[in-house]
Amino acid sequence: MKLTVIGAGYVGLVQAAGLAHLGHEVMVYDINHRKLEALRKGISPIYEPGLPEMLEEGITQKRLFFTEQMKEAVLFSSLLFITVGTPAKITGEADLSAVMAVAHQIAHFAEGDKVIVLKSTVPVGTCEKVEQMMNEIAPTYTFQLVSNPEFLRQGSALSDFLSPDRIIIGIAHPEQIPLMEEVYRKVDSPILWMDRRSAEMTKYAANVFLATKISYINMVAELCEAYSADIEQVAHGMGTDRRIGPHFLKAGIGFGGSCFPKDAFALMHMANEVGVPVPMIEAMMLTNDRIPERVVHRLLSLMPIHAREITLLGLTFKAGTDDLRDSPALKVISSLSKYPYSLRAYDPMIKAGNPHPSLQSVTLISSLKEAIEGTEAILLLTEWKEFREADWESLRKWVSHPLLIDGRNCLDEEKMRKAGFDYVRIGKQPMLSLKPVRAPHGWKDGRRETPVSRQ
Ligand code: UGA
Repeated sequence: MKLTVIGAGYVGLVQAAGLAHLGHEVMVYDINHRKLEALRKGISPIYEPGLPEMLEEGITQKRLFFTEQMKEAVLFSSLLFITVGTPAKITGEADLSAVMAVAHQIAHFAEGDKVIVLKSTVPVGTCEKVEQMMNEIAPTYTFQLVSNPEFLRQGSALSDFLSPDRIIIGIAHPEQIPLMEEVYRKVDSPILWMDRRSAEMTKYAANVFLATKISYINMVAELCEAYSADIEQVAHGMGTDRRIGPHFLKAGIGFGGSCFPKDAFALMHMANEVGVPVPMIEAMMLTNDRIPERVVHRLLSLMPIHAREITLLGLTFKAGTDDLRDSPALKVISSLSKYPYSLRAYDPMIKAGNPHPSLQSVTLISSLKEAIEGTEAILLLTEWKEFREADWESLRKWVSHPLLIDGRNCLDEEKMRKAGFDYVRIGKQPMLSLKPVRAPHGWKDGRRETPVSRQ
């Protein structure tokens, strides 16, 4: 099939490269000329494992094309995917201006009927709104909107595209069924057909549910620390109940990224618009927001009294990406910068000189060994393979003080102990060789000494 993808961002590029891989001819439109120039040479503007190879495949097999001319993109096919961003406004509401602008242009340039597949994450009712607007702009033709939310995870987006658990498609016009079946014919996953509003809601509901699962396990982790239970054992015990399932029960420094926080705020905004109270989402976000501060206090309470050097390992919001958006590491930095410590950080994807404003109080180091040399406390914040597979026994000799807090519970506890580290995990009482020597006022081992009274 001939297909057009409007917007060469993260979702658009994965969608376009994936569709070309499935055998379709795909025209990608983007406003950014330099980005397209790079793409034409097979250079991916984003870091995503496997994407450069798939782009290269599409280009050499002449199934993937790029244009900055909207007219060319619109005339290329009668089925267009909209994959432009819907960032959060200050109110939390999703900003639909980019979606509206491209829909407007499509209607303007169309010389025939079009099916528009909305992949951008949009508030419930957007398909209807966009469809009405487009049909008013160009009444000679018919524009039909389909909702097809994406469930791609950064770092494994291509496998998520090629073998998703399911494909969600919201339609209002049954004639779209064979068309959309043809788009995904070579993907061996069930298609769940539903109405467009339900498809739009499914995207938010799924993301916010996953975020809630993480906050829930992080809340239990804090309780485990207080009651000397072990969150890993608890999560395993819970996750083996098939009604709960083992996924997204990994306790740690909390969730970040461009999706969970943004979608949670957008859903809260939508709820507010219709007067539906959503205290669960608020509690979930609050739980997530306070973890970095809590872990910082735990670190401070366990550090030697004269310590000055802290090393952060990992800055991105998870492994397999170079994305710093809403990364818990940035909250850790902001919290630590209130204290007179010297902060250095190493992340395999974040190079020295990175202009991110939150990184200006940190010295970015280019290797793991250098980053920990002479340090007095290590806080691991991203579960990079390099950290998981590092030879910590050899690395031990480079640190001045062997305290390591594993904010992702990703290192081998026994090996770390054997290597001589005072190794601390989230959701577990540490067994330290050194006694905690310093606690900020009102805090002990990362917890408030006096529980906050409930009103
Ligand atoms: C998320 C969803 O998983 C995708 O299905 C969705 O398509 C995407 O958002 C989106 O809306 O575009 P992503 O943000 O790439 O994908 O990352 P996840 O793998 O879901 O992780 C999100 C955050 O939760 C990360 O900070 C991760 O470290 C954290 N996390 C995840 C945990 O702390 N514990 C877990 O058990 C799982």
